[in-house]
Amino acid sequence: MAKTLTVLGIETSCDETAAAVVRGCAPGPGEILSNVIADQIAEHAPFGGVVPEIAARAHVSVLDRVIERALSDAGVSLAQLDGIAATAGPGLIGGVAVGLTMAKALCLASGKPLVALNHLEAHALTARLTYGAAFPFLLLLVSGGHCQLLVCEGVGRFTRLGTTIDDAAGEAFDKTAKLLGLGFPGGPAIEKAAVSGNPRRFRFPRPLLDTEGFDFSFSGLKTAVRRVVDTTELTDQMVCDIAASFQAAAVEVLVERSKKAMQAVSGRAIPVRRLVVAGGVAANRLLSISLSQAAAGLGFELLVAPAALCTDNGAMVAWAGLERLGLGLVSGLDVSPRARWPLDASRAAIVGAKS
Ligand code: KG4
Ligand code: ZN
Repeated sequence: MAKTLTVLGIETSCDETAAAVVRGCAPGPGEILSNVIADQIAEHAPFGGVVPEIAARAHVSVLDRVIERALSDAGVSLAQLDGIAATAGPGLIGGVAVGLTMAKALCLASGKPLVALNHLEAHALTARLTYGAAFPFLLLLVSGGHCQLLVCEGVGRFTRLGTTIDDAAGEAFDKTAKLLGLGFPGGPAIEKAAVSGNPRRFRFPRPLLDTEGFDFSFSGLKTAVRRVVDTTELTDQMVCDIAASFQAAAVEVLVERSKKAMQAVSGRAIPVRRLVVAGGVAANRLLSISLSQAAAGLGFELLVAPAALCTDNGAMVAWAGLERLGLGLVSGLDVSPRARWPLDASRAAIVGAKS
């Protein structure tokens, strides 16, 4: 029986300053004792997107209070933790450095082990924190920076089937929202506008859908939206119709690619029968409803984390840290932050791992 561990997780790779304390053991589910998030929406809104330098400064100014609050909400002292985990990449390097340096300082002061984590692995393992999902599973990872289909066979054991050749799914939502003047962050704004829109008003392209493989492309879709925006009067109804038509196209691409991947992995030597959806775009209702129909049709179990755990948060970092700690995969204090860090290479290169 695995030992129950209590871990503090720190997340600063994009525009959320987050810290959480999680308790449990693999394969989960775990108990979220606290989950504190300070967003930076007000700081970035005037620019219609995340400005890296502003993000890094904002992390510096609030991170200590966010961590204090996470510990006090959980009723746990530093001394009572088994370890401290922080996102070490991929992400905006200034922000990643802030969180990782803070984690190192806390480890140095408390003598607790450090787990330097891949942010994408933290998204991927959220389904174990919330549902205790067993390995292996097919993972659709859809966030502001990534759009990938992977097979996950264990902690640090990912095989990538496909990725985006241009924009990430969340990026496409964000850029489309900006074109439509819907503000930031774009995904929730598009989803809200789409409720009052007609998804069949425009037949936007579904890039790469008729090609082999599992890759994605969203830039053609964004260009098609731009063409309509540039040539049409943007009434409120028109904005809602474009948002709904865009969302229908983006979701169809994600669902069709996922279906193809489910068909492919169900024939593996160890068949995969579970689809996990992770990352900010997993919060989209149309996506989860459409995927649940697709998964049911192919005999797959669909696991989507609650919306608050789909977007960046400290609980997913604490949980992934807890799983690694349980396996003895701790990091040295000399570990460096990384702007780029592909998930499928992490098996061979567990950064800073001592074991
Ligand atoms: O995982 P995340 O919080 O940060 C990254 O690691 O990128 O994902 C943020 C992305 C943003 O692009 C945001 O617009 C998108 O997730 N997003 C959504 C929704 N909520 C967040 N996209 C579509 N529908 C949503 N409801
Ligand atoms: Zn993320």
